[in-house]
Amino acid sequence: MKNFEQNAKVQERARKVFPLGVNSNFRYWGEGITPYIKRGKGSHIWDVGGNEYIDYRMAFGPIILGHSYDEVDDVVAAEIRNGLLAAMTSELEIEVGEMMVEMCPGIDMVRFACSGTEATMHAIRIARAYTGRELIVKFEGNYHGFHDHTLWSTYAPVESYGNKRNPIPVAASSGILKSLGEKIITLPFNDFDGFERVMRSYGEQIAAVISEPCQGNCGAILPLPGFLELIRKKTEEYGIVFILDEVKTGFRIANGGAQEYYNLKPDMATYAKALGNGYPLAAIGGKAEIMQIIGHGVSQGGTYTNNKPGVAGAYATLKLLKEKNIIETINQRGGMLMDGLKKIFAEAGMSAVFNGYPGMFSFAFTEEKITNQREWSETNKDLYLLLMEKAIDLGVMPDYDPREPWFLCYSHSEEDINKTLDVFSQIVKTL
Ligand SMILES: Cc1ncc(COP(=O)(O)O)c(C=O)c1O
Repeated sequence: MKNFEQNAKVQERARKVFPLGVNSNFRYWGEGITPYIKRGKGSHIWDVGGNEYIDYRMAFGPIILGHSYDEVDDVVAAEIRNGLLAAMTSELEIEVGEMMVEMCPGIDMVRFACSGTEATMHAIRIARAYTGRELIVKFEGNYHGFHDHTLWSTYAPVESYGNKRNPIPVAASSGILKSLGEKIITLPFNDFDGFERVMRSYGEQIAAVISEPCQGNCGAILPLPGFLELIRKKTEEYGIVFILDEVKTGFRIANGGAQEYYNLKPDMATYAKALGNGYPLAAIGGKAEIMQIIGHGVSQGGTYTNNKPGVAGAYATLKLLKEKNIIETINQRGGMLMDGLKKIFAEAGMSAVFNGYPGMFSFAFTEEKITNQREWSETNKDLYLLLMEKAIDLGVMPDYDPREPWFLCYSHSEEDINKTLDVFSQIVKTL
């Protein structure tokens, strides 16, 4: 049993300076159950109460190698002694750009940013500038960061989304300009007919279709065979920029992300998270023809877009990804975990549907295959929450939010996986 008293005390203190006591709404789990971090090492974290957990949140995905990963931290520590920021481009940046272009099949050029939010915001502007059009297509349940252009139909109760033949874009926050809703078309993920209908009706007015390869912010729902390919085909037909948001999948599901995994070449792609093993670097990548409009009447930049910790962190992380079998190891451990959990649920007579990839997966309690957020919302989320509450209490920490996938890193050992499976066997017996 974990002692949460100290976390609750820290929460009380934090609430006095931060709304909800956190610096991101997603980090607030509720009163008395919101954890506060002390430290992390490898696949483990310790909260302020001294409780230890096997971590499956990996900071929402960035930690691909492990917490406080020496081989990355040593490079960063050495590099920052030569200066953090200079408002000049360094050769280290160029090396990171070169590695990205080499690793990601659809990308000829990149520009750096500080967060996934910035990367998608810039990508949307570039796509609008390149096409001279304004409309954006996005899928319900996908999340592309906190800017106002795509913060629509992300987590609203799906009843508010309207009929799937004519979805209503729902702003995810007060304060978002209503008028931006006129520039966005939302659709259920994996809706082949709906997508074709929208293309027929609005194709010539659409600047970009933006999509995560899988619904990394809604139960890791996978694309049905042919769906990403349909997007590719139709966007080509109508001269629309296809932006693949690889902020979660990039450098995680394969060295070349979803582009390599699905053999897909979008027009642009966005990155952050695993790119730097937690050091803050993001990127917008794309075809040379599109990227080269940047600086020719199209703005992109930022004081911190080449921050040394981010650049050095990305340099060290990408080098390790290229040199070692990182993703294969993660896939092996993740596969072992998924298979073990499936077996535990099946033996207990619980119908769980799994989605995602071994290094980034989710499950939901339902009998049916889940292909979009509307279907996902019908699953038994109370049971999921109950399991997570018990797991966290026993030292295994996936995200409490059922939309958020389980993330694995290179430091997760077979021992971690076996311990996790023991915890779940134990929990399931008590239900
Ligand atoms: C697919 C996707 N795009 C964009 C973002 C925004 O990235 P950031 O939190 O770095 O702004 C996220 C964050 O979770 C994401 O999952």
